[in-house]
Amino acid sequence: MSRASSGSSMPSADLNSVPTLEQFIITRREQFPQATGSFSRLLRDVSVAAKIINHNIRRAGILDVLGETGTVNVQDERQKKLDEIADRELVRALRRGGECCLIGSEEQPETIPMSPDAKAQERFAVFFDPLDGSTNTDVNASVGTIFSIYTLPEGVQPDDALGVALRPGSEQVAAGYVAYGSSTMFVFSTGNGVNGFTLDPGIGEFLLTHPDLRIPEHGARYSINEADREDFVPELRDFLGWLKRKDPETGARIRSRYIGSFVSDFHRNLLTGGIYMYPATADHPEGKLRLMYEANPMAYLVEQAGGRASDGHRRILDIDPDALHQRTPLFIGSAPLVEAAEAFLQGREAEGTAR
Ligand code: AHG
Ligand code: MN
Ligand code: MN
Repeated sequence: MSRASSGSSMPSADLNSVPTLEQFIITRREQFPQATGSFSRLLRDVSVAAKIINHNIRRAGILDVLGETGTVNVQDERQKKLDEIADRELVRALRRGGECCLIGSEEQPETIPMSPDAKAQERFAVFFDPLDGSTNTDVNASVGTIFSIYTLPEGVQPDDALGVALRPGSEQVAAGYVAYGSSTMFVFSTGNGVNGFTLDPGIGEFLLTHPDLRIPEHGARYSINEADREDFVPELRDFLGWLKRKDPETGARIRSRYIGSFVSDFHRNLLTGGIYMYPATADHPEGKLRLMYEANPMAYLVEQAGGRASDGHRRILDIDPDALHQRTPLFIGSAPLVEAAEAFLQGREAEGTAR
């Protein structure tokens, strides 16, 4: 299938042949690890929340929902009003849908068990970053939502669920993100590749526009907050030097792009090839990004797209978590670039150049 063009210029014949997210979930159900109606409904609930969050973001200035709430979250970060709205809408949609046993959110200190009279099939734990890159909301730049889904063994009580749900990312059954950019995209994987859907605002549906996404091997972009350079270990500074070398044959050189919104930086690099890095720094000695709802879901997606994700020494998906809000350094993107980062950080020098 060719990629759909944006906006209303898409011919109606094309529109009819492009599956919506719901049609895709139903028709491809046999490919899902959880081939149940319950799992399909859970994904639908997340996508409904995404549309409501999108609606709020698109009217942010008009509704005066920009700015801070005056409160801080459990991680001492100042909450934005849109952080709260996005968190509330995700919790509401998952509670209303009734397929989820446990929620873990960036904006909530503890996990939230769903109702005690949970249905037998309510075996899913969902971890999410309701609004990623939220400092960008006041300046009309792109933001996102990230989610990660695990299955809990039958019979687990909601109160015991966190201990059971804190599993390595390799055990996720699905993960995805929503990018609220110049268009709104829902990108997800259930372990059978990565598919991207674009919201057609006219009909309120996500349409399959980016089937079977693969990350290009040869990266074109690197993304890191280089203002922290003085805090980087010398091995990382050496890696950045290597990344910037010109290809001696073609003269091509990698480009730098950093929005400060992980979803947006990740999404661009997924489409163009590249590497996103958030290393350990003086301010964030364990890295800044959170394992359960930022690094793990994106690591799952990038591997499904043929890429790689590492903390510099370990595969992200192999890390055994011990806390909901645990942080990790992160190097994620095109496999050869992440391998080169690992080589430098482990004291080995990489071959060739980045391009
Ligand atoms: P969040 O808004 O969910 O707290 O996440 C912010 C994260 C991530 O989106 C982004 O890449 C990073 O913080 C930017 O941090 P710096 O400003 O330190 O570069
Ligand atoms: Mn975030
Ligand atoms: Mn956030």
